[in-house]
Amino acid sequence: MSVNIHVNSPNVKYTDSHIESQYEYQSSSVQKEGNRVTVTPRNTKMTFLTERRVPRLGVMLVGWGGNNGTTVTAAVLANKMGLTWRTKMGLKKANYFGSLLQASTVCLGSGLEGEVNVPLRDLLPMVHPNDIVFDGWDISSMDLSCAMERAEVFDWSLQEQLRPHMSSMKPRPTIYFPDFIAANQEDRADNVLTGSMAEQMEQIRADIRDFRQSSGVDKVIVLWTANTERFCDIIPGVNDTAKNLLAAIKTGAPVSPSTLFAVASILEGCAYINGSPQNTFVPGAIELAVQKGVFIGGDDFKSGQTKIKSVLVDFLVSSGIKPKSIVSYNHLGNNDGKNLSAPEQFRSKEISKSNVVDDMVQSNPILYQPGEKPDHCVVIKYVPYVGDSKRAMDEYTSEIMMGGTNTIALHNTCEDSLLASPIILDLVILTELCQRISVRPQGEEDFQSFHSVLALLSFLCKAPLVPSGTPVINAFFRQRASIINIMRACLGLPPQNHMLLEHKLQ
Ligand code: NAI
Repeated sequence: MSVNIHVNSPNVKYTDSHIESQYEYQSSSVQKEGNRVTVTPRNTKMTFLTERRVPRLGVMLVGWGGNNGTTVTAAVLANKMGLTWRTKMGLKKANYFGSLLQASTVCLGSGLEGEVNVPLRDLLPMVHPNDIVFDGWDISSMDLSCAMERAEVFDWSLQEQLRPHMSSMKPRPTIYFPDFIAANQEDRADNVLTGSMAEQMEQIRADIRDFRQSSGVDKVIVLWTANTERFCDIIPGVNDTAKNLLAAIKTGAPVSPSTLFAVASILEGCAYINGSPQNTFVPGAIELAVQKGVFIGGDDFKSGQTKIKSVLVDFLVSSGIKPKSIVSYNHLGNNDGKNLSAPEQFRSKEISKSNVVDDMVQSNPILYQPGEKPDHCVVIKYVPYVGDSKRAMDEYTSEIMMGGTNTIALHNTCEDSLLASPIILDLVILTELCQRISVRPQGEEDFQSFHSVLALLSFLCKAPLVPSGTPVINAFFRQRASIINIMRACLGLPPQNHMLLEHKLQ
């Protein structure tokens, strides 16, 4: 059941096409000279404009036949059809638990009935996941109903209900350069394009146009949920600028499949999101996105162990406790685990998982000297038997008062794809919403949109991609507050400050 929110303020105007809010953005500029810190509050007036018409959204998944691809597609179908199924634990009903937008709430304030919390999805006009149309590519030609069975994620009786609706979904042939993913993936690669690199990329562009036309969607977003690739080298003259990258694709110089998908998508004017850890967004791809004014976002879904890390280290450091060592073991038995058992692909994941505590550590010079960091070790092992049910074991050892030690050990067992799928939905729905928001600072003539590198997606990503020279925020609640407060700004509402002064004074 959705909630209808109306803001009662002279600063907010609802027209048929837009919500227009007059907003005062309060920030401060800080100067530090030795021990002296001078803070100057700043107040910038801005107009936020949000288009109210929600388009029909099409999402093309690279790796559609994988565990995440099949799980998200099936989950949306199950929700759309309101499916229920029996398990030994009783009757289960389709839902979107794990989605920030669909299953979490925000407090709008308090009234006679006390605090009023509303679902995030109702704050602004947004695409409903049930209305998303899926398509995509995979190196494996298996149709989505068989691929769902291969994934071993859903209960059998649910699969039986979904199968007739998924058997006609067939992944499109894709770009496959075996050198980029583990050799152990080769036996499933029976659905691949041939021809020159430029021809293959042109085919991906044609696929996007074909999907847009044949499905009747208004907008397409492309998201990589295919296997983790190895990192690629940044080579001057090849992928360092947009011009060089486009020229390199013509000559067949080394460019990864994921970068080719990103370039194809950007050239078609479609936002592109990277759900895996590899460095798809080489400088040339970022420059191209900025030139074309297309959103890009990534990297690597923040679903389990890293999400906990971005909460737990924030809690420790902001309590004045000093984490000295963080050790994370994982074992999993799905195809992602199989691919990550190869050293170069594991290395991509290791890099993406390892920087997640940096901002929290750097924020506290009482605990950490410049350059000092906790020891941080990440291990991933492939154990086929556990399938998609990933095990993550973490040990956090911290220094507490007077030389004391505090050790926290966690054991997390969870179906990986059921954590990643709602994140995929949040990523595309939030990206689509951002495409309809524009901002005009006072005194400027034109409205501008967010930077092409969509840092607002950081909450959903392990290694957030941000515009060059801007801060990377990993801390969970800061990331969440950023999304909520920007949505509130679109409604002319101040940021959530949690002061609750109305309850604290006499
Ligand atoms: P998966 O291995 O089940 O699915 C990946 C699919 O991509 C496979 O079906 C494979 O055939 C296909 N593929 C490989 N190369 C391709 C190409 N060039 N073009 C099109 N398709 C291609 O893996 P899963 O579990 O779905 O994960 C997907 C990605 O998401 C992995 O990179 C993983 O590291 C990342 N990820 C997953 C998380 C999770 O919780 N499930 C969390 C964070 C990241």
